Amino acid sequence: MAATFIGGSDPIRQLLSLVERVARTDSTLLITGESGTGKERIARMIHEKSPRGRHPFVPVNCGAIPEGLIESELFGHEKGAFTGAVNQRSGRFELAEGGTLFLDEIGELPLSLQVKLLRVLQEKIYERVGGSQPRKANVRILAATHRNLEQMVREDLFREDLFYRLSVIPVDIPPLRLRVTDISLLLEFFVARWVEEGRGEPVRFSPEALNRLCRYEWPGNIRELENLVERFLVLKGGETVELSDLPEKILGVDSATVPGGAESPVPDTSGRPKRSLDLADLLDGESIDMPAYFLRLERTMIEKALVRFSGNKTRAAAFLGINRTTLIEKLKRLEGISPDLL
Ligand SMILES: Nc1ncnc2c1ncn2[C@@H]1O[C@H](COP(=O)(O)OP(=O)(O)O)[C@@H](O)[C@H]1O
Ligand SMILES: [Mg+2]
Repeated sequence: MAATFIGGSDPIRQLLSLVERVARTDSTLLITGESGTGKERIARMIHEKSPRGRHPFVPVNCGAIPEGLIESELFGHEKGAFTGAVNQRSGRFELAEGGTLFLDEIGELPLSLQVKLLRVLQEKIYERVGGSQPRKANVRILAATHRNLEQMVREDLFREDLFYRLSVIPVDIPPLRLRVTDISLLLEFFVARWVEEGRGEPVRFSPEALNRLCRYEWPGNIRELENLVERFLVLKGGETVELSDLPEKILGVDSATVPGGAESPVPDTSGRPKRSLDLADLLDGESIDMPAYFLRLERTMIEKALVRFSGNKTRAAAFLGINRTTLIEKLKRLEGISPDLL
């Protein structure tokens, strides 16, 4: 079954139309985004929609293979190539023949392998470890990383030539906290899937619980949301998830909430979209951590401006009415800004 990518927010609509276009080509793509944003899922979709879709999709997690084994894992080895190479073995390039090789966590690829990968990308040939016969590779490469490769290039941790070769078309998946309107769609999707698979009864979410889920930061993005839904389904199947059912870390978000910062898809009784928390509510509370509150506000404004202007700092700064240098200073200080926006 073809993978779907749930989301109706502007950045996801744009992403999906980009997917349609790039699927038709054979271009190398670099998919960036925080962990759990859906990089592998998008890669699979691109593969399935491409002319290579009937051939294999082979994922390799470059960060999970010990350095000494990566070369033979990718390119295969001949019998006796090294101690332990008892038999000849096919590499992932060979397994992906005609299809797509997904190089996940490409930022973890050691420099020595980066040279070899660049060669395959340019010449479409490689050799097995211990072999001398050049082998042709008919493979499309999709790479992904949660790291800022440009930064790694500046620090000499990633080869510049490989970076440019990979990022012919950059595909960035924004973190969930910057596409709040997708949250309720994703909750619904995972609940429906659970029920369809006959695993149990659905859950509903009270407006208060949903509202709070929409204001949470989701550091683990969709993966975190998916796991949380599963937990609700197990514990509350057939019932309504109330505010008090949410884990502590999510309930904690109220201490530094931005007024109107994140648009909430939960309509109030008037049918108008309800802003997450207004200042009046906040001032009625016990006390306010004003510095933390302002920092959050500043961060949200900066993030939204950067997203709106696709990371263009000059335009984002002009929009915010501050100097570009001031914006850069602020970015250095603020934690938790998506590295891709820096
Ligand atoms: N838009 C989406 N719609 C449905 N499921 C999604 C979506 N994005 C991510 N997922 C699911 O969330 C989990 C994490 O996605 P994954 O592609 O592995 O993230 P990443 O590779 O960026 O860490 C997977 O189970 C994936 O199927
Ligand atoms: Mg992944």
